[in-house]
Amino acid sequence: MKGVVLAGGLGSRLYPLTKVTNKHLLPVARKPMIYYPIEQLVRTGIRDITIVTGGTNAGDFLRLLGNGRQFGLDHLNFIYQEGEGGIAEALGLTRSFVGDDAVMVALGDNLIDGELISFADGFRRQFSGARLLLKKVPNPERFGVAEIEDGKLIRIEEKPKHPKSNYAVTGFYIYDSRVFDIIATLEPSKRGELEITDVNNQYIAWGEAEFDILEAHWTDAGTFYSLMRANLLAMPNDERLRLLDEMDAIAMAKRDH
Ligand code: G1P
Repeated sequence: MKGVVLAGGLGSRLYPLTKVTNKHLLPVARKPMIYYPIEQLVRTGIRDITIVTGGTNAGDFLRLLGNGRQFGLDHLNFIYQEGEGGIAEALGLTRSFVGDDAVMVALGDNLIDGELISFADGFRRQFSGARLLLKKVPNPERFGVAEIEDGKLIRIEEKPKHPKSNYAVTGFYIYDSRVFDIIATLEPSKRGELEITDVNNQYIAWGEAEFDILEAHWTDAGTFYSLMRANLLAMPNDERLRLLDEMDAIAMAKRDH
């Protein structure tokens, strides 16, 4: 299985923090944000990883990450995304890197306080199709949201006003190599991007999308609030998890009013 970490985008929700640097280079606890998803992939045993990034700070990724020796790797690959075509477009650029292999994709601003090993093993048992990692959240309207019936995925809706469940689709995905054929058929969404949710819905339509529900804590880090959560999640002490749970409870209570 190959690994892809997506680290493009403007990070506009974090302005002015992202005015002169890329979101994925911002500090989270003791490391640059992008370290966390790379370390996750490496801990599942993936050795062959590509970073996709863009914009004016792309060169900083090479300076920061080099050949990936700090992760125990002997090389890293880099691909440049021109423009802001979205997650699926960025993944599409890795076609020749992935070849006929399967690929685990991590969004560069996604952090979990757990391991992806059973997620990867789940896909290995499945052999083909897609595998998604879901997480119960208090604010599903911010994410891709899974509709589930009788333990089966029915559909994913991207940032729905009226979410059909509390299960967000996290930024960790595993696909077989047909993902590139799907991406080639996609049209830009209303926000002008090729949506990863459209990719996932195609696998669901084929009846070939499975999922795991993550018990560990998860956050993205694309807003000030979630960046603060990411810092808490990555801190090495026990209080942090209680604080994260309290933040979730507060967010849930706010929604109920
Ligand atoms: C993206 C995906 C969304 C997913 C989220 C996870 O949203 O489009 O489906 O739930 O990442 O972090 P974005 O943060 O790019 O708006």
